[in-house]
Amino acid sequence: MSRNAEDLAALVRGRAGAAPVRVGLILGSGLGHLAETVAGTAIPYGDLPGFPHAGVSGHNPNLVVGDLEGVRVAVFGGRAHYYEKGDPAAMRLPLEVLKALGAEALILTNAAGSLRPDIGPGDLMLLSDHINFSGLNPLIGEATDARFVPMTAAHDPGLRAALRAAAEACGVPLPEGVYAWYSGPSFETPAEIRAIRTLGADAVGMSTVPEVILARFLGLRVAAVSTVTNMAAGLSDEKISHEHTKAMAPLGAAKLERVLRAFLGNFR
Ligand code: HPA
Repeated sequence: MSRNAEDLAALVRGRAGAAPVRVGLILGSGLGHLAETVAGTAIPYGDLPGFPHAGVSGHNPNLVVGDLEGVRVAVFGGRAHYYEKGDPAAMRLPLEVLKALGAEALILTNAAGSLRPDIGPGDLMLLSDHINFSGLNPLIGEATDARFVPMTAAHDPGLRAALRAAAEACGVPLPEGVYAWYSGPSFETPAEIRAIRTLGADAVGMSTVPEVILARFLGLRVAAVSTVTNMAAGLSDEKISHEHTKAMAPLGAAKLERVLRAFLGNFR
């Protein structure tokens, strides 16, 4: 844990109170509404030196610490992506701060393209596993043996079971699938989508995987849910764009919010 992370955690505790955080949530494109519903303290990323500027439109750059369904949470209203500055470890400091605040678990959300005909725009997908199609790794340069992180059950089976149960209780379908990380910021070609389909991917997106690796490195249990905003390149006639992603994300966001609330309501 860096000194900087301990200092930032102290700053957060000073503003939001000293009670330990239990669960962290990172909100993807167009999914920021949940942060506004937390009873707690919003701290702009700009007040947290070293936090990303979250320059992608559709992201809400506050860290909100407070209560959601009776659980003390830290909600990250925006993330830094590899494609912004070429740094796969761009989210390391925020996740170190989350760990320093006492968190046990991290739930990641993202917008993604679907490769599965049975999962369409507006649907949710729980990540059972991922493919690091970028070949990049946020732990390159880490000097300790802790860098050799086992990734066999990286997407925590217990958290996944709890998320599936929460979805079922809400009547929201939550199929599981494999997410492939593509660096972006350009979208994939149809040939790339056919290639990763052959490799076993069910969804594709530009985030999440480096955060899963960092979370496991830090000893946080982690799970991730995609909101499908489009069929991946070449799989439908609709045009793929960031505007489309932002416009479609709210379709799944309301369902995602219900699932996350039900999950937190039963979090032990
Ligand atoms: N590809 C990559 N990232 C995405 C997509 C996609 O089709 N949709 C939303 N985020």
